[in-house]
Parts: sequence; structure tokens; C-alpha cells
Amino acid sequence: MSEVRIIAQLGAEVLRLRAHEVQDINAPEMQEVINDLFASLASANGVGLAAPQISASWRMMIIASRPSERYPYAPEMEPTLMINPSFESLSDVREKDWEGCLSIPGIRAKVPRFTQIKVNYINALGDAVIQDLVGFVARVFQHEYDHLDGLVYLDRVESNKDIISESEFLKLMAVD
Ligand code: NI
Repeated sequence: MSEVRIIAQLGAEVLRLRAHEVQDINAPEMQEVINDLFASLASANGVGLAAPQISASWRMMIIASRPSERYPYAPEMEPTLMINPSFESLSDVREKDWEGCLSIPGIRAKVPRFTQIKVNYINALGDAVIQDLVGFVARVFQHEYDHLDGLVYLDRVESNKDIISESEFLKLMAVD
């Protein structure tokens, strides 16, 4: 059973907390959060969602890359649950590109992110996974990871001029 939960909106305290490490993924409470996280992401049609965004302050997130107008070469991937994730950059190279967030509707901003990272996490089966991520998927990972530390992408924006409305963003994408 799962429930689509309301997405916490910017200003909600839960988005500014450091989320707790998950101790036992088989605990009924954790299983409930995991099921609701999958259901809520699917319902919102997002490419990623972190547990604090459904008001569950635990270090869990899902990334689900798929191609879009902005990222036509983004890989299509099954929604992947990552528990207690961590990462390190594989180079100092960072690139600025557009991001949005289900917790901050109506705007988009350019955010610098590492282009190549090595990630560690526990998967839905409880296995430890180590993976290299690049490009868009690495960006989504870093965005969702920030939510676990009480950060949102606007905290990483270098200039207010890099923030635009969703309607202007859609115009830009149409021009591309
Ligand atoms: Ni977000």
C-alpha cells in the first residue's frame, strides 16, 4: 500500500533539517516512507524526490532520469531508491544548467554542479552500491542529496539573475 503525499513547499521547516540516517530499511515506518516516496514521485512526474519533500526527515531519495526537452540525451532509468547516499566529485569541473524543484514551483534557476561523481548508497534490497554518475543524472543526484542536508537548489545559485520564472523558462526551451 502506498499513499501519494503532499509535497512540502519552500518555507516548510522539514526542508531545512538535516535528515536522519536510516538504520533499518525493513522497519514498517521506513517501508511506508519508501512506498509513499515512489508513489509521490510518479504522481508528480518528477525526475527525483527526496524523503524530506514528503515531510519524512530520513536520508532516502529516488532518482528517475528520463529524456526531456532540456535534456534530450538524459538516460531513461527505472526510478532508483538510494538510502543513506554519499558522493565525492571525480573532478573539479562544475557546469551551470537549469534546475527546478517540486518544492519550489513556478521558477527555474541555473545551478553549478559537479559533472562527474562517484556515489555510494544502499539500494531497495539493502545492498551497498557504488556507481559513477555523469551529466544530468549526476546533477539530479546532487540536487536530491542537498535536500537531505536541508539545502535547496536556490542556495547554490550564484546570482539572482540566474533565477527565472517557469513561463520564461518554457519560452527559452522553445527557442532552443
Ligand atoms: Ni528539489
